[in-house]
Amino acid sequence: GMPEFVKIVEVGPRDGLQNEKNVVPTDVKVELIHRLASTGLSVIEATSFVSPKWVPQLADAKDVMQAVHNLGGIRLPVLTPNLKGFEAAIAAGAREVAVFASASESFSKSNINCSIEESLARYRAVTSAAKALSIPVRGYVSCVVGCPVEGSVPPSKVAYVAKALYDMGCFEISLGTVVPMLLAVMAVVPTEKLAVHFHDTYGQSLPNILVSLQMGISAVDSSVAGLGGCPYAKGASGNVATEDVVYMLNGLGVKTNVDIEKLMSVGDFIGKHLGRPSGSKTAIALSRV
Ligand code: HMG
Ligand code: MG
Repeated sequence: GMPEFVKIVEVGPRDGLQNEKNVVPTDVKVELIHRLASTGLSVIEATSFVSPKWVPQLADAKDVMQAVHNLGGIRLPVLTPNLKGFEAAIAAGAREVAVFASASESFSKSNINCSIEESLARYRAVTSAAKALSIPVRGYVSCVVGCPVEGSVPPSKVAYVAKALYDMGCFEISLGTVVPMLLAVMAVVPTEKLAVHFHDTYGQSLPNILVSLQMGISAVDSSVAGLGGCPYAKGASGNVATEDVVYMLNGLGVKTNVDIEKLMSVGDFIGKHLGRPSGSKTAIALSRV
């Protein structure tokens, strides 16, 4: 059956803006996060403490975090690829972080410049530093159903990386999904510790989310106006739009606490800034009526 409540993890300010050609000014990012916080979203991924040479779009991570870290009642996780990023994040006021591994060696190399095993060793260092400070750590696994370089990725490999992240203490593991992969991971990580994270490259996000919910998942990552993509995943398009996820869940009678009207006006705000129409079909349809 369907979960009664779905927790949406809004990744627009991070996953969305990391891939923009033009760097978005810090004050626009801060305003975006404030506006998202007013829609009822409870988790907003704010930025990444990664190398500014690798992702210049988020080079202002410290300033963004300092400006938003006191937003009441909202969780604001940030990506941390290593201890250096973790320490910078904590110094800037972060109270929750995320580490990001891959189930494909080629993608690991191109995204974080190390092998999967090396990345897991780094993440063990991050999770143990985090544990000492009672900082929750989320884990991502990329390329769970396929890799832009290697092609297909075996579900067993995804399960291996997800279990490693779970065993080192990640409170939630976020996955792209199809059924065999999800079953393989659900055999080794409890379902309530899993979230799904889709880019809409093949237009399959909503059906994949629906299947995941039917399999017991109740946490979904999405990005306002469908912003997003990873600069190191060529051809990957934006994340599934938060508006489309909320619209679908509203239709199914599943609660999210998110106000879709307010969300659409946030999509409008960032779309106007970027000079781009919304990537949300729901936002486009509802703005016509
Ligand atoms: P590297 O070049 O191998 O790192 O990069 P290094 O340790 O050799 O250091 C090189 C330089 O970077 C040094 O500076 C370090 O101090 C600096 P220099 O001496 O040259 O001046 N450095 C840092 N600076 C700031 N913050 C840090 C940091 N670490 C080192 N944390 C590294 C390795 C991991 C740092 C790099 O490859 C990197 O930053 N990669 C991040 C790539 C990224 O952010 N990708 C997008 C996010 S993942 C994603 O979108 C997928 C996801 O959404 C799920 C999905 O959709 O599948 C999560
Ligand atoms: Mg992503």
